[in-house]
Amino acid sequence: MQLHLSSWPEVQAYLERSKAILIPIGSTEQHGPNGLLGTDALCPEIIASRAGDESGILVAPTFNVGQAQHHMAFAGTITLRPSTMIAAMLDWTQSLTRHGFERIYWLNGHGGNINTINAAFSEMYHGITFSGFGDRSGSNHPPLRCTLRNWWELPGVGELCRQLFPVGEGHHATPSEVSVTYFGYPQAQKSVAMTPKIAPVGPIFDAEDYRRRFPDGRIGSDPSLASVEAGAKIVGAAVKAVISEFNQFAAAA
Ligand code: NI
Repeated sequence: MQLHLSSWPEVQAYLERSKAILIPIGSTEQHGPNGLLGTDALCPEIIASRAGDESGILVAPTFNVGQAQHHMAFAGTITLRPSTMIAAMLDWTQSLTRHGFERIYWLNGHGGNINTINAAFSEMYHGITFSGFGDRSGSNHPPLRCTLRNWWELPGVGELCRQLFPVGEGHHATPSEVSVTYFGYPQAQKSVAMTPKIAPVGPIFDAEDYRRRFPDGRIGSDPSLASVEAGAKIVGAAVKAVISEFNQFAAAA
């Protein structure tokens, strides 16, 4: 069930049976020469929308711009300041809690978002404890609970990615994530020869330094290995894991 394809009476009826919602969260940033700029937002969105269709989990619109400052030397990247992202996450959450949602499962697609997402959770919890949160101040409603899950760390998924790509998985613009997007959007596949075949690895200091060290945007990966078939397998495993984990989160005392 997708929030943006539902009517308000449908969402109201959903709230009668569940107070939990899933929000895909990602980034709009360069993903190497054959990866889509939307990769980190599309991966959690593709997994979540299928999980929502299969299981009836309510899936919110994707929070699709995040922490991408270090990718800003590449065309098309869009980034938020951490304070802006935290403020926007608070506004989304406050809107949802106003309607009665109490559990928010954030399915993340971008490692660079993790610190900021956790900082946003701290702000939310701080708000509940010290100054009221939304219209819950002083009420005896159970407090809001948020959880963060990186899709590539879902049970069984990392192992499957390593099996599919024992060589060339790397750290950024990985064949696994590119495969997931090619499965979701086969028409957007790009055939690009990689030079070198596997990208170098190393530290990053800022956007210009990133581009100097990793001129085509990849780190340690060979995303020319990406395929629709591999993406189908990864998405299948991730959908199963998300449904099971979300339902446990929704039901936990
Ligand atoms: Ni990525």
